[in-house]
Amino acid sequence: MREFIIAGNWKMNKDLSEVRSFISEVADGLKTKDMKGITAIVAPAFPFLGVSYEGLSDSPLKLSAQDVSMHEKGAFTGEVSALMLESISMPYCIIGHSERRSYHAEDDALIREKLLALASVGITPILCIGESLEERDSGDTEDVIISQLEGCLKDVNIYSDKDLVIAYEPVWAIGTGRTASGEQAQEVHALIRRWLEERYSAELSKKISIIYGGSMKPENIEGLISKPDIDGGLIGGASLEAASFLKMIDSAIKIRNG
Ligand code: 13P
Repeated sequence: MREFIIAGNWKMNKDLSEVRSFISEVADGLKTKDMKGITAIVAPAFPFLGVSYEGLSDSPLKLSAQDVSMHEKGAFTGEVSALMLESISMPYCIIGHSERRSYHAEDDALIREKLLALASVGITPILCIGESLEERDSGDTEDVIISQLEGCLKDVNIYSDKDLVIAYEPVWAIGTGRTASGEQAQEVHALIRRWLEERYSAELSKKISIIYGGSMKPENIEGLISKPDIDGGLIGGASLEAASFLKMIDSAIKIRNG
């Protein structure tokens, strides 16, 4: 059975006290939940990864970084390396988010370098891909998705579900309140899974979690994650409140238990 992943991408939100109270409320809330088959993750901004880690103690809540440098070390002011993340036991790192692609001109080749940097230290990348509204409207969704997969995973070996999580995030659905329907998202997730099967193997394609991102919230999560190839969510706005995040975990538990 594939792991369900409920991941909050906090982007550039929350200060120290807000981070602390979220972590303690969610760690507390998870104590009574059956988290079998479900991984809950939050991705705070870099300055708060350390305090978040300390706040977790023995909670099943996991952390993710929001980005990583492609470089190993050296004179790269403002960058954070995969080795630094590994040294603080970071299990996950988001790469290729559309906000980084558009505001920081990141392309598939650069994202691939970041993926390899993470692979070299055993951090699981959460690789974001997705089409723009213009691309969807002109019928290019499939081509865009395949080309992003081919670019980001060119000559990259994947051996297990620890080596990759894919987040399908249609750019037109991010922060817009406009969510892809369960059917629209399922169609792209199935396409991604078929690509994984052809590129790697049927066995591996069944193990990799493919999660959806784009205006996911407690009101629409069940319609999305009940689809066969949608293994959870990468959630922005609706992950900022502990109560809303915990509700989405309840939905994952409900769907998981059928
Ligand atoms: P929203 O949930 O705010 O649309 O953001 C989605 C996202 O970009 C997660 O990475």
